[in-house]
Amino acid sequence: MIMKKSILASLLGAAVFVSCGQNVQKNDVPVYLDEDSPLEARVEDALSRMTLEEKVRVLHAQSKFSSAGVPRLGIPELWCTDGPHGIRPEVLWDEWDQAGWTNDSCVAFPALTCLAATWNEDMSAVYGKAIGEEARYREKDVLLGPGVNIYRTPLNGRNFEYMGEDPFLASRMVVPYVREVQKNGVAVCVKHFALNNQETKRHEYDAVVDDRTLHEIYLPAFKAAVQEGGAWSVMGAYNLYKGQHLCHNEYLLNGVLKGDWGFDGAVISDWGGTHDTAEAITNGLDIEFGTWTNGLSGATSNTYDSYYLADPYLAALRSGEASTEVLDDKVRRVLRLIFRTAMNTRKPFGSLCSPEHYAAAREIASEGIVLLKNEGEVLPIDLSSAGRIAVIGENAIKMMTVGGGSSSLKVQHECTPLEGILAAAEGKAEIVYERGYVGDVSGRYNGVVTGQDLSESRSEQQLIDDAVALASSSDAVIFIGGLNKSAHQDCEDSDRYGLGLPYAQDKVISALAKANPRLVVVLISGNAVAMPWAGEAGGILEAWFGGSESGNALADVLFGKVNPSGKLPFTFPAKLEDNGAHALGAYDPESDIAEYKEGIYVGYRWAEKMQTEPLFAFGHGLSYTEFEYGEAVCLRKTVRHGADVTVSVDVTNAGKVAGKEVVQLYIGDDNSSVDRPVKELKGFRKIALEPGETQTVTFTVTPDMLKYYDSSAGGWVLEPGTFTAYVGSSSADIRTSVRFEIK
Ligand code: GLC
Repeated sequence: MIMKKSILASLLGAAVFVSCGQNVQKNDVPVYLDEDSPLEARVEDALSRMTLEEKVRVLHAQSKFSSAGVPRLGIPELWCTDGPHGIRPEVLWDEWDQAGWTNDSCVAFPALTCLAATWNEDMSAVYGKAIGEEARYREKDVLLGPGVNIYRTPLNGRNFEYMGEDPFLASRMVVPYVREVQKNGVAVCVKHFALNNQETKRHEYDAVVDDRTLHEIYLPAFKAAVQEGGAWSVMGAYNLYKGQHLCHNEYLLNGVLKGDWGFDGAVISDWGGTHDTAEAITNGLDIEFGTWTNGLSGATSNTYDSYYLADPYLAALRSGEASTEVLDDKVRRVLRLIFRTAMNTRKPFGSLCSPEHYAAAREIASEGIVLLKNEGEVLPIDLSSAGRIAVIGENAIKMMTVGGGSSSLKVQHECTPLEGILAAAEGKAEIVYERGYVGDVSGRYNGVVTGQDLSESRSEQQLIDDAVALASSSDAVIFIGGLNKSAHQDCEDSDRYGLGLPYAQDKVISALAKANPRLVVVLISGNAVAMPWAGEAGGILEAWFGGSESGNALADVLFGKVNPSGKLPFTFPAKLEDNGAHALGAYDPESDIAEYKEGIYVGYRWAEKMQTEPLFAFGHGLSYTEFEYGEAVCLRKTVRHGADVTVSVDVTNAGKVAGKEVVQLYIGDDNSSVDRPVKELKGFRKIALEPGETQTVTFTVTPDMLKYYDSSAGGWVLEPGTFTAYVGSSSADIRTSVRFEIK
C-alpha cells in the first residue's frame, strides 16, 4: 500500500510539474521516491541530476544544526540534534541560544555511563528505541550520539557521556542502541571518532598512540557501532592523530573507517572541528558543521558560504584542483544519509515524553545503579520501620539534566533524589532534609534554566553542624553528593582538577559517620571519585546521572523495590596515581601532545599489571542477595586453531530475594610471546534468578577473542598455547577458572 502511494505521489508530483506548463527538464522531476528501488540506484539517480553548486551545498551546514538539501529535486535538508541522553531543545537558526519553543521539552534518559553500568544489552535496545522515538517525533534526522570514547583518565570531563574503560563492554553495549535508534529512520552519529579521551586542549592535542593500543582499546566500540550496529554517520573528533585533525584524518577516516571497515555513511565534523579545505576534501570529511572560519564564531551574513567545504571547495573544483570523483563520493554518502532518514517515508511517527519513555528512563536508571558497599545490612532501608530518615546533600535537590555541555537538556520533568525518596516514603517514614554543603548554585545552560533557587546563606560550618544535628536525631542517614555538571566537574570542554569530591564533601561525610553509623552515601556522578571515608559509611551507591526519573530509580533501589544489579563500567582507583596515564605522567593538561604511554594498560588492565588494589574494581557491584558459582567447565580442553571454545558455569541465587547477576568472563593468555594483560573481558551475561534458582551460563569464546593486534604485521594474531578462562562477579571477584589449549 505504501509503495503504491509513493509511486502515485511521484507520478502526481511529475504530473503537477507538467500540468503547470513549465518547461520541464528531466532534471527537474523530483527524485524517484519508490523505496523498493535499491538505495544505490536512487543515490546514482539523484547524483546524476545535481549541479556542481548543489553538490557542494549539501556538504556543509546552512544553520547551526542543519545542512542543505536540493529543493529543485525535492531532496530535503538534513536536521541534526544533540545529544546522547535526550533531544536538545530547539535553538535559533544560527545561535546556540534557545528558540523558546514550548513543545520541545523531552525525557532525559540516564547518562551513558549508567547504561553501560547495567551490563544489559536489552537495556541498550530499550534506550535506543525510546530516544530514537523522541528524535523522530521532533523530526530530527541525525542524533548526535552515542559517545563511546574509552575512559582513560578519571579527570575527563565527558566520561559521563561514554561507556567506560573496556572496549568489549562498550562494543556490546553500543550496538543495540544504534540499531534501535535507526529503526526510527533517525541516524546515529557515533562520536567522537577517535581518541577524544580528555577535554583539556580538546581542539589542539595530538594523540600519540601505538597501533596495537589503537586497535585493541580505542577503536573496537566504533568498529562495532559501524559494522554490527550499521551506524549511518560518525562524528570526527576535535583532537589530532598523526598530526591531522580527526575531522579530516587520512589514516582513521579514509584508511580505517571507510577503507578497512567499509563504512558507507557520512562523516560529520564536530562543531568547529574543520580547519583546512584541502585536508577536508581529501581526508574523508563529508559534512562540515559549526566551523570557526572567517569569524564564523558569530552569526555574520553569508557565514555558511565561507565554510571550508563551501565556496573554497567550489573554487577548488572549478579550478580543477579538486576532483569530482572525491566530490561525488562525499555526495553519495550524504544522499544515502538523506534517503535513510529525511526521505525515508516508512518511518514511524515517534513519540515524545510518553509514559513508556519515562518507564524506560526509570528502568535503565535503576538497573544501572551500582551497590558498592553494604555492611551491616544498612540497605535496603525498610520504610515500614525506618522511623526518621535524614537526607543530606546538595545533589539530593539539584537538577542534573541542565548543564554539562552539549548533552544539556530541557526536560518536561526531572524527579530529583529527594523527590523520589519523599514519594516512596509517603505515609511510611519521616524524611527530613539538610543541605550539608553548597556546591554549584547555578541552574542554567544555553538559555535553559532549571528554575531552582539553590541559594544558601549559612556558612560551611553551620551547614555541617545543622546536618550533624539532624543525623544525630535520625534513625538512618542518606548522604547524596558527588559531582555535578558545572565546569571542571562532569562537563564538556573542561577536565576535573583531581579525583577528590569537591565542596568539602569528605568533611561532611566523615562528620555524619561519627554522628550516625547507619550512614548510606549516594554518589551522583559520571566519574570515579576518591573516598577517604569509604570505611566509615555502611552503604555506598553509585547512582550516576539518572535523567528524568533519577529520584524514583534511586528510591526503588534504596528501599528495596529494585534489587541493584549494576556493575562498574570503569575502575575506581584508590588514588589518581593508580591510574596508568597518571602513574606515567602521561596526562598533561598543559601539553599539546597526549602520549598514551600506558598503551593497552587502561583501567583494570593497568591495576592488574601493577597489582594495585583498586578502591572498587571494574565490574564490581553488589546485590541484596548472594550468588554462588559452580566450577567453570570447558566442553573441550584442547581445540584446534580457529575453533570456538565453550565455557559453562552454573550460577545459583543463594539468598532470600530475587536478583540479577552479571556473570563475567575474562580470558588470560598464559604463554604469549608478547606482553598481554593478566586478563581481558570477553563475555558477560546478565541473568535473573529467583531465590534458590540455578542457571547454566554458557559462553562461546571465538578465535577473534583470543587474538592480540600485532603492529608489525598490521593485523590480529592468535598464538597457539594455553589460555585461562576466568568467571566471576567482577574483575576482582573471580569465582572459578578453567584452562584450555589452542593447538
Ligand atoms: C560539541 C560537542 C559534540 C556536539 C556538537 C554539537 O562541541 O563536541 O559532541 O554534538 O558540538 O553541539
